[in-house]
Amino acid sequence: MKRDMKSLLNPALQNIATYKVEGGQYAEIKLNQNESPFDVPMWLKEEIIEEFIKESWNRYPDILPYRGMKAYAEFLGISPDSVMMSNGSNEMLYTIFLASLGPGRKILIPDPSFSLYEKIALLLQSRIVRVPMLPDLEFDTEAILRTAHDEEVDIIVISTPNNPTSKSLSFEEVRLIAESSDAIVLVDEAYIEFSRQRSILELIDTLPNLVVLRTMSKALALAGIRIGFALSNPLLMAELAKPKIPFASSRLAEITLTRVLANYSLVTDAVSFILHEREKLSAALSSIQGIQLMESDTNFLIIRVSDASAVFQHLCNEGILVRNVSGYHLMENCLRFNVGLVEENQRLIEKLCAL
Ligand SMILES: Cc1ncc(COP(=O)(O)O)c(C=O)c1O
Repeated sequence: MKRDMKSLLNPALQNIATYKVEGGQYAEIKLNQNESPFDVPMWLKEEIIEEFIKESWNRYPDILPYRGMKAYAEFLGISPDSVMMSNGSNEMLYTIFLASLGPGRKILIPDPSFSLYEKIALLLQSRIVRVPMLPDLEFDTEAILRTAHDEEVDIIVISTPNNPTSKSLSFEEVRLIAESSDAIVLVDEAYIEFSRQRSILELIDTLPNLVVLRTMSKALALAGIRIGFALSNPLLMAELAKPKIPFASSRLAEITLTRVLANYSLVTDAVSFILHEREKLSAALSSIQGIQLMESDTNFLIIRVSDASAVFQHLCNEGILVRNVSGYHLMENCLRFNVGLVEENQRLIEKLCAL
């Protein structure tokens, strides 16, 4: 008798689901993945492609993307030994968790937070210690400090600003957590460019357990090219990067990164636009009856409605794709959508007003 296929596989697969984006990834007005509404301009794409065609496509890129790492290190003004580039920050999350988790290991995750953290931790058969957010979705810093200590966790992962709540810890709160704990503290700054808070990056050489994660998928508008980074002191980085997939970043990713960083005013202009539109959207949303708006520290907004599934479907029927985040702890009947172009935001408001 043949053995059941599932018994041959990692038993942790029973506890995780295939990653899905509800409603898909295509819509006339697509606001469901916290992307930038602005694509890279054609003149810059052409410059990038011109450089890319001169590369040897039959040759492997470097084992690690040293060109990209050097470019980002120079941009940030830090040592290249403190920088690791990955194929999206998702890949870096897998790498760091492979390096730090496993059966019997404990990870502290504020709840709700980015779903991939739990998924990888479960896959690696680690114990998840969830620290609930406060009822208003703000971080419970005291509970994080207390639980990290009492549970003797091995790693703390904090998305700040946080997806899906859009709330942040202050610089001092992040410093306190990293200083008070002997666990590795991974601070995912995917949305830092939109935040009122200062990045914790300046402390990577002071705090030996601190790792900062960055993505080029949000403010830098490069979600389709897949670029992420981890930043820490060189000793820790050398260890964390050991499980990394070799050759994971393409030559195209390195060239694109270098060129976008060289034209960074495109990014700062886009961020200013998005923050301005976020304020306009917030003002409009707070005057709509039946909608409760949460204050945002990111490029996306969270609203609570009386029936999130019905509103999600109504918007879908109008060609507007948002994210129904009702399944998350404390987020019953909540919807999430990123700031779009002026006309897209106007259409969204019109449709919400007409509910
Ligand atoms: C908090 C957070 N971290 C990481 C990511 C993944 O980004 P990347 O596109 O770099 O894999 C996301 C994407 O939504 C996110 O919200």
